[in-house]
Order: sequence, then structure tokens, then C-alpha cells
Amino acid sequence: MRKIHSLSRIALGAAILGAGFMNANAADETIRELAKERGRFIGTILNSEWFNDAIEPEFEEIHKKQFNVVVAENEMKFDATEPSENVFNFEKGDKMVEYAQANGIRVRGHALAWHSQVPNWVNNYSGQKEKLLAILKNHIMNVVRHYKGKVAEWDVVNEAVNDDYNADWRSTNSVWYEGIGAEFLDSAFVWTHEADPNAELCYNDYSIEWGLREGSKASFVVEQVKRWKKNNIPITCVGTQTHIEIAHETTPQNVRALAKALAELDVTLNITELDIGFPNGSAGSLGASDYAKQGHLYRQFMDVFLEEPNMGEFVMWGLTDAHSWLDEQQGKTQALLFDKQYKPKPAFDSVMASLKAHPASEVKSPYPDSILNPPKDCGDESCGDSIIAIKKFIAPKGMSVQLVGRTLFVTGIAAGKAAKVDVFDMQGRPTFSTKCEKSRADLSAIAEGLYVVRVSNSSASIVKKISIK
Ligand code: XIL
Repeated sequence: MRKIHSLSRIALGAAILGAGFMNANAADETIRELAKERGRFIGTILNSEWFNDAIEPEFEEIHKKQFNVVVAENEMKFDATEPSENVFNFEKGDKMVEYAQANGIRVRGHALAWHSQVPNWVNNYSGQKEKLLAILKNHIMNVVRHYKGKVAEWDVVNEAVNDDYNADWRSTNSVWYEGIGAEFLDSAFVWTHEADPNAELCYNDYSIEWGLREGSKASFVVEQVKRWKKNNIPITCVGTQTHIEIAHETTPQNVRALAKALAELDVTLNITELDIGFPNGSAGSLGASDYAKQGHLYRQFMDVFLEEPNMGEFVMWGLTDAHSWLDEQQGKTQALLFDKQYKPKPAFDSVMASLKAHPASEVKSPYPDSILNPPKDCGDESCGDSIIAIKKFIAPKGMSVQLVGRTLFVTGIAAGKAAKVDVFDMQGRPTFSTKCEKSRADLSAIAEGLYVVRVSNSSASIVKKISIK
């Protein structure tokens, strides 16, 4: 009896040990590691409480364990980085970059040209086109150069499309659009690329997860991306913010359709600000089935994300329901992966389950290895150069163009191959064409202004922004 008893105790002990071992394994598994193995990034914001050292210790523990891409909730916006004219404040952004580098986390920069969170001193110049162009250029040059090689990707333009049934540019309450016109977008991309040629450059917006019907925001954005790509405006990604509600059941499939449309244009689609909220009023009555439903929606987003080869980042606008812009500003609540006590919700388990259901061998990554495994310390200037390559915008070796007065000098065009010179305005409209003869082209017929010039022959092409004075 005794013997049997002790044997069964051994068996029980082994079972407990075994169970313990498995649990330890499960606990070690993170959505960050699973995403990384699949060549993808999963992330969330560092919120203002974190920047102000006013956050629970669990926040950072979970943050660096579970996420490998990060974005600042407010601290890299225009009003934060240039609070007074030509006076820059990089303190908080630097704090985030330091944290990200120490923890091997990719950084998204948010946002350069946006109608919101613009300081008053900018609005004081409203309607003054040349001044506003100069302000935007100076802002982009300073901010993007400061973070060159440290911020992997910028939301160059945020929310520039209106909410009308027939989408068009947001023409009211936007100091940039009202003062400059839609060329502010094209210019912003060109300047950002100039300031950091290796950064990925996104157009970011909300409600583009509502589908590609005629006249929709998503269709409008796809049309603009087509135009940008055609004219070599250096856009590489679109961000769908995706602030949705529990009732929006079709949105994951809309995101899939958008990803497919952008894949045709060789552009990546990122989910940049996902939250799936319940109406504020329902907060007290939410039960297991509600959280399961939320988990199901999160799962569908992750499924789509992993199944579409041109999707790269899955970023949520918050980590814990204890800190979310939704409760204060949007009449929504409890939209995130962790609850107010920092406990993972069914939504977290669903994201994890989706990652596991898509083996690494079957998930394609839009990124080369140099991006997935960047060097840890990017402190020196040269570091950024190896991180990201926007191949399409790198001129063929040895080829360059330079404008001197009204003459465009072209070097590196293979002898005997006639080159064409096409000039576009900042809206991408063809403005002027000529031939490049004896390595030069005369542009004196063009009026003063900003343009994009493309020099191409049958085997090579180079694009550059020029300013005709
Ligand atoms: C929000 C922040 O979360 C708030 O703290 C701030 O008061 C307003 O902006 N789309 C965006 C984000 O691109 O920058 C917004 O962030 C949320 C909507």
C-alpha cells in the first residue's frame, strides 16, 4: 500500500512538474516573439503617462516584453516638437528612442504634417502659402534629421482626407491644405525622404478600414497612392488607424481588400492605431461573451495581417484599458488587450492564438533581414543607413541630376542611350518634357516653383525634387 502510495506520489509530482513546465513555457511565449519569428512587428503607444513617469510599473514590464514596435501617443507631434517657431524640443522623443534602442524595439514617428495638434504660432500664418511651405519644410528637415536612423518609419501625412461620402482632401480646418493646397502632401513626402532617405514613409488615416466602395476614403487614398507612385513621390506605406467599435464586424475583411489593392502598388499596409471599443454606457454590464466577441474581432484582424504579405506592423493605440484616449474623448471604453489591472483579456489570447495558427514558415515578411534585426545601438550617424532601404528611390549607381540655374545636368546616363526628362508639378501633373542632350536639359520654359523631375532611359531612371527660381 505504502509503495503504491509513494509511487502515485511520484507520478503526481511528475504531473505537477510537467504541468508547471508547460505553463512556464506558455508564460514565456510572447506575442512579440511570435510576431518577430514571422517577420512582423506588433506594437503599441508609449502614452503620455509613461513620458511623465506617472504610470504603474506593470506598464513598462509588459510593454517591452510583448511589443517590438512603438509610437509616441502625443510627444512627436508638431506642437510637442516645435512649440515655438524654429525652437525644437526633442526631449521626450529622445527618451522614447533611448528606451526603444535599449529594448530592441522599432520606432514609428507620428506625425509630421497633420491639421491637428499644430501650435498656435503656425496658425498665425494661415493663408500665407510661401511661409507655410517654409515652416513645414523646416519642421520636417529638423525633426527627421534629428531622428535619422533612429525612427524607422514616419507618418508623413496624417488624416488629410475629409469624411464626406465622396471623399476628397480635407479642405477646412487644415492650416496646411487651406494655405498651401494639396501640394503640401507631395512636398512633405519629398522633404522627409530628403532628410532621411532610408526611412519608410506612410500616409496615415482613419475610416479607411470602411471598404473600397466608389467615393470612399479608402478608394481616394488608393488613387492618391497610385498617383504618388507614378510620379515617384517616395511613399512606401499606408497606415490604417482602425479605431473601431465592437459592432464593426466587417472591418477585418475591408482591411484585407485594402492590403490587396496596395500590394498592386508595391506599398505596405500597416494597422497603426487599432482599438476595438465598447460604447461607454455598456461598461458596467460587459460579460464574458462580450470580451469573447472582442477577442474574435482582434483575432480576425491578426489573421488578415498575417495572411497578407504586404502588411508589416500591427499597432494598437494603447496597452491597458486603464489608460486610453477612448474613455476621455471618444465615448468608448475597454478596447485594448490588457484590462485595467493589466491582466491579459481574451483579446490578448486571440492575438496569440492567431499568431500560433499561422506558422512562421507560411507568413511572408515585407521586410529584409536588416530591418527585422537592426543593429542594437544606432547612436552614430552612419547607423541608420543600413537599416532600411527604399530600393525604388535609390538612383542607379553613379547616376545623378543637378540643377544649376535653369539647366539640369545629368551624370551617369550610359552613352548612346537617349534620356527623357519629364517634369511634374507637386500634384503630379505632367508639366514639361524634353530630351536630355549632351548630359544636360534646358528647363528655362518652366515657371518658378517646386517640381519633381524624372530623367529616364530604357534602363534607368532617377527622380529628384527641384526648385525653379
Ligand atoms: C490622440 C491621443 O491619443 C490623445 O491623447 C490626444 O489628446 C489626441 O490625439 N488619430 C491619431 C492620433 O492619429 O494621433 C490620435 O491620438 C488619435 C486619432
